[in-house]
Amino acid sequence: MKVNRKTVSKSCTEVNGIMKIIGYGTGATIYRVVKNPSGTSGSIALKMMNKRPHRSNVLYQRLLKEADILKRISHPNIVTYMGCLTFKDRKVLLMEELEQSLGDYIERLQGNGRRTMLSEYICRVLQGASKALDYLHTEKYLLHGDIKSHNILIKGDVRVVKLCDFGLSISLRKDGTADVQKYVGTLCWAAPEAVDVGPLTTKADIFSLGMVVYEMLTLKVPFFHYYRIQKERNSNEFEEELTESECGCGLRLLSGLDREYYSFVEIFRWCTEEGYNARPSAMELLQVLESSEFSPLRRNTKTSSLIES
Ligand SMILES: Nc1ncnc2c1ncn2[C@@H]1O[C@H](COP(=O)(O)OP(=O)(O)O)[C@@H](O)[C@H]1O
Ligand SMILES: [Mg+2]
Repeated sequence: MKVNRKTVSKSCTEVNGIMKIIGYGTGATIYRVVKNPSGTSGSIALKMMNKRPHRSNVLYQRLLKEADILKRISHPNIVTYMGCLTFKDRKVLLMEELEQSLGDYIERLQGNGRRTMLSEYICRVLQGASKALDYLHTEKYLLHGDIKSHNILIKGDVRVVKLCDFGLSISLRKDGTADVQKYVGTLCWAAPEAVDVGPLTTKADIFSLGMVVYEMLTLKVPFFHYYRIQKERNSNEFEEELTESECGCGLRLLSGLDREYYSFVEIFRWCTEEGYNARPSAMELLQVLESSEFSPLRRNTKTSSLIES
């Protein structure tokens, strides 16, 4: 992620006392409106482009597309659209503000020496994200296209979970597929078929959600998939930086987890199945998470054998 800090500080001065930076995106900065125009303190977030790009600029088009998508979707687990305007020739997207991204939260936990996230929080993130994905996939025929912890917003002990960042979303055909050439995503979270020859389906989002489970369980970026791709391409770009245990073929990293996390290991495995057809739909995932049989404390035979092997 490239951030032009000069531009950021300039825009901060321009709006001094009114806005505070809460996040950095690709070519855009996210601000909290400290005082909203009505004078009351409100929870409005602004996503503002750092530069005044040409209309053909890919980031400019991405922000317009994001605004257009957010305008026509509405769900309790998706950030609410509040408008789109131009400020000093720069496009600005207005939306509801949440406390932080799951990615920031995970980084903070890691910084505090924690090894994993609370299991009930993991469960809430998965339930919220599955509900949002089911809505996107089955009602709006939309692939989010960039599911990762930094694109999931949380608030109040993970009681509120909302997806954000729809700049890389892709329209799905009625059969739930889309052209794989349209996929951009983020490599470490991307499904193997999405960065290959396809087919691109709703299951690409499910794979990425599986990677978020990995992030929540290990508090690490899911490098192992990227590592494998690099290896397959005979590139050793990553080999010096990451040992295999750091990339983990997943399970070695997960082996130190307490029993209460075993069900999530199983969910991780299910969502990241190599064959996209073997992965659950968002609704199937939700049904498992909400079923009375699902309990992070239940020790599943399949999972135990994976962990102990
Ligand atoms: N509505 C919001 N409320 C609080 N934080 C937000 C909000 N939108 C974005 N952020 C923060 O800003 C970061 C970047 O925003 P995002 O929309 O993902 O930009 P990009 O498209 O460049 O990735 C997010 O990871 C998150 O930390
Ligand atoms: Mg983002």
